[in-house]
Amino acid sequence: MLSGKTIVVGVSGSISAYKAADLTSRLVKLGCDVRVLMTDAAARFISDLTLEVLSRHHVVVGAATGRESVLDALACEADLMIVAPASANTVAHLAHAVDAGCVSYVASRMERARVLVAPAMNVHMYRNAATQANLDALASRGIVVIPPASGMLACGDEGEGKLPSVDELVDWAVRASVRVKDLAGMRIVVSAGPTREALDPVRFLTNRSTGRMGYAIARQAMLRGADVTLVSGPVDIPAPRFVEVVGVESAADMFEAVTSRASEADAVIMAAAVADYRPATRSASKIKKKDGDLSLPLERTQDILAWLGAHRTPGTRLCGFSMETDDVLENSRAKLVRKGVDMIAANSLRETGAGFGTPTNRLTLITAQREIDLPMLSKDEAAGRLLDELFSPELAATG
Ligand code: CTP
Repeated sequence: MLSGKTIVVGVSGSISAYKAADLTSRLVKLGCDVRVLMTDAAARFISDLTLEVLSRHHVVVGAATGRESVLDALACEADLMIVAPASANTVAHLAHAVDAGCVSYVASRMERARVLVAPAMNVHMYRNAATQANLDALASRGIVVIPPASGMLACGDEGEGKLPSVDELVDWAVRASVRVKDLAGMRIVVSAGPTREALDPVRFLTNRSTGRMGYAIARQAMLRGADVTLVSGPVDIPAPRFVEVVGVESAADMFEAVTSRASEADAVIMAAAVADYRPATRSASKIKKKDGDLSLPLERTQDILAWLGAHRTPGTRLCGFSMETDDVLENSRAKLVRKGVDMIAANSLRETGAGFGTPTNRLTLITAQREIDLPMLSKDEAAGRLLDELFSPELAATG
């Protein structure tokens, strides 16, 4: 998502300035053109040569005087600026529009929503009323202030003031780089992953779902400005940042977590592979083996999507998934009607590159009005197309 973007990394004087090297390297690897600006204080913590080699561009250190035309052009051309680390001094310079060198010069000339500031300083300096007022002033003008992490600080004090991990800084940059916030104000509940239906304290029935499709939908919706709750069965993939994650195990837990949130939601997207059956009884102690075979009676779980379809809140869009090996479209269309939902995203388990555990998917989006055959896409792209269709004006009219 950051590929092809020009990102200015502004580095100021903090012990965490060394992390700017990793940040620069990560952004370059993501395909960005990275331009580094440093304050004189930053140059006492990390060499401009390091950042020059990593960014593959000349690094400007210190005063803006004499370089105004170059810096003006950069402010104009850049898609984003991330000031990381932002020392208490640099935060004050930005808040009061003090021209204290190249970092504050460029930051003051960029559109505010495109400037991210990651404060890093001693906990007492961070909590100081003047610093807090400066940070509030930046946020009130639309600059994105990234909350610092907490923990043991370099000086030995404990508390907030650490520069967040480079992973987290990159996630903030990705979110800010998506300019289209067409889902802002929307509340979306997404379910993902498998469920586990316990037989006894050590065994359970489950399925091959990895959660990737649901996680991609949650992330794309978040990047487009939605307020997202991800109800997730047990998976091995990291939770997307800026999304509320509710962890569940069984179909019954998922039913509770999804239905209790559905009436407040603008959309519920059931991407989870919910078990259709669970053991009729759950043994409190481990089932011991005996001679001969064992049969396990199973009972139906409640169908969450069908329940949502039968208890609709006007205005809540409902989307389900369908995984079939045979008669994909026919079975999926029947599911749309049977479950009373607005859209079914159908995928065939027979198609290579689609379904469980793959990074790609080929979906057919089925609504009452139409059928959209998507090509094989990354799960992120497929998630984006699904959201386009679910929030299209045509669907809103019938929802
Ligand atoms: N679903 C659900 N609650 C269940 C089972 C499924 O909400 N107890 C949802 C899934 O999250 C998915 C859709 O229903 O969105 C899948 O429907 P389902 O009838 O289970 O179809 P498949 O599993 O695809 O196929 P089959 O009908 O063959 O079971």
